[in-house]
Amino acid sequence: MYNDVVMDHFQHPRNVGDMADATSVAEVGSQECGDTMKVFIKIKDDVIDDIKFQTYGCAAAIASSSIATEMVKGKTVTEAKKLTKNDVVTELGGLPDQKIHCSLLAVDGILGAIEAYEKNK
Ligand code: FES
Repeated sequence: MYNDVVMDHFQHPRNVGDMADATSVAEVGSQECGDTMKVFIKIKDDVIDDIKFQTYGCAAAIASSSIATEMVKGKTVTEAKKLTKNDVVTELGGLPDQKIHCSLLAVDGILGAIEAYEKNK
């Protein structure tokens, strides 16, 4: 069902965890399935210096969260805000049709944390 890239990120997710000194945190839920993702970001000089996540969801949601956090780490806030679910699915080498919505959870979480940062700065 899943390709090797998806399986690798599911079995060895990058950037999983918690962050005591996060600049911003967001928690989002999928309207389709109720799974949730919490994202912590640390921003320095308008760059995403560090990012961690906790996802309570399916394999596709965990793989999407892992690869999406890798994609935005080190990017400016402006660049990171351009992330879309299509970018995440492409970077993963594809997801089964019924799992495309899972990639949105990762994007919503990251964009939510950036939005919270911008509101409070
Ligand atoms: Fe819920 Fe994948 S089924 S995020």
